[in-house]
Amino acid sequence: MADMNLRLAFAIVSSACWSAFQHGYHTGVMNTPQEIMSKWLQKEALTGTNTTLEVASDDPKVTTVWSIIVSIYCVGGMIGGVITGYVADRFGRKKGLLLNNIFVFIGAILEGGSKFANSAEMLIIGRLVIGINNGLNAGLAPMYLAEISPVSLRGSIGTVYQLVITITILLSQVLGLSSVLGTESGWPWLLALSVIPGVIQCATLPLCPESPKYLLLNKGQELQAQRALNWLRGDVAVHGEMEEMHQEAEKNKVSKKVTLRELFGNRQLRQPLLIAMVVMIAQQLSGINAVIFYSTDIFNKANLNDEQAQYATLGMGAMNVVMTVISLFLVEIAGRKTLLLTGFSGMFVTTILLCVSNMYTHIVWVSYVCIALVILFVVMFAVGPGSIPWFLVTELFNQSSRPAASSVAVTVNWAANFIVGLSFLPVSLALGSYVFIIFAVLQLLFILFILFKVPETKNKTIEEITAMFRQQM
Ligand code: GLC
Repeated sequence: MADMNLRLAFAIVSSACWSAFQHGYHTGVMNTPQEIMSKWLQKEALTGTNTTLEVASDDPKVTTVWSIIVSIYCVGGMIGGVITGYVADRFGRKKGLLLNNIFVFIGAILEGGSKFANSAEMLIIGRLVIGINNGLNAGLAPMYLAEISPVSLRGSIGTVYQLVITITILLSQVLGLSSVLGTESGWPWLLALSVIPGVIQCATLPLCPESPKYLLLNKGQELQAQRALNWLRGDVAVHGEMEEMHQEAEKNKVSKKVTLRELFGNRQLRQPLLIAMVVMIAQQLSGINAVIFYSTDIFNKANLNDEQAQYATLGMGAMNVVMTVISLFLVEIAGRKTLLLTGFSGMFVTTILLCVSNMYTHIVWVSYVCIALVILFVVMFAVGPGSIPWFLVTELFNQSSRPAASSVAVTVNWAANFIVGLSFLPVSLALGSYVFIIFAVLQLLFILFILFKVPETKNKTIEEITAMFRQQM
């Protein structure tokens, strides 16, 4: 960590941490207060009255509206992904992140005000808006991080985005407990609370410089780029890095900004684009969110009572955080490819064992094994499949194609997230716990793909990585 200094750390926190806060927080926040919010839908929002008339808790209207509220977040994420490339080029990474807070404030007002206005529609639109915010975050924040990082720390700094997601998923679940804000009067505050990180970002990020690479390569602002780099590196001389950027700038003159259409049409970019997309799909279709969202239910089936199951879920979230911290150090030692392979292989073995042990949950000790396996599944995800996809895409492309490629990769990630979220419950109703066999088969395919197609990018400059793909051609 020799290249780390206080100002670089400040820039990382001001940009990625508050953005990832929104991403993780809104991913987890609907989990614990589901019951209390469903009651509000049943009794008030969907009937338009405040009667005490009891509607069955499994009323299909309520469950449908609830699943729209949960999943429209991913639709927003896809929209945010699509516009990421445009925003990153037009406004820059830093200004893009700052402007993105408009969606935080609108989303929070809509979500937090929905109970007051007795409107399920407001809640739905609020979730869509906050989804757009997070589609943009998932593209812009890792891009900014990659462009301000020294090569030797690019993986560790890139991992910060996922680390904060895991912390804030956990935070949202703790705050959502019925003893904290998961109450009839508390839930609007629970949802609106994400204004706080938005305000902090608006106050701190303006103090940090724009990405030096954006300034030099996109804007041709030599002096500003040098100043930004000096700021970020502290006392260390920056000639070497400036020289590297100049070399890339020379090439960029020849290959100007790449549009979405060119991205798909260019044969040289086909291979890295395929890798970026598959790794994003793999992250989601590994089944991680099936476990993150439905763990309490899974633990219940393994004979834990409600309270125990909730605590087991929190324990699982904590293990997700701990392992992501460890992976932050491992990623610069072991490399991206090794960690991806280790993580997915571990998930594969765990998933198979889970399917087998699920048949014997009537035996007491087996049900404990099931719980341990679910936690191990999340731990293996955190080894690499959780963090690496976010920044790998920024490493595979140079300045001219990075925004368009990030746009595609992030959109694909949210689309896959949407598909798992929507189909997991119906499919598991039909297949029971055998639903995990589908994930196991997919994980195996992803392992093979990574083994044969993904190159190691650790300690390589972007120039070296893109040259590698050119040579392969
Ligand atoms: C990744 C996934 C997200 C998931 C989280 C769990 O960030 O993109 O969908 O909920 O990991 O840690």
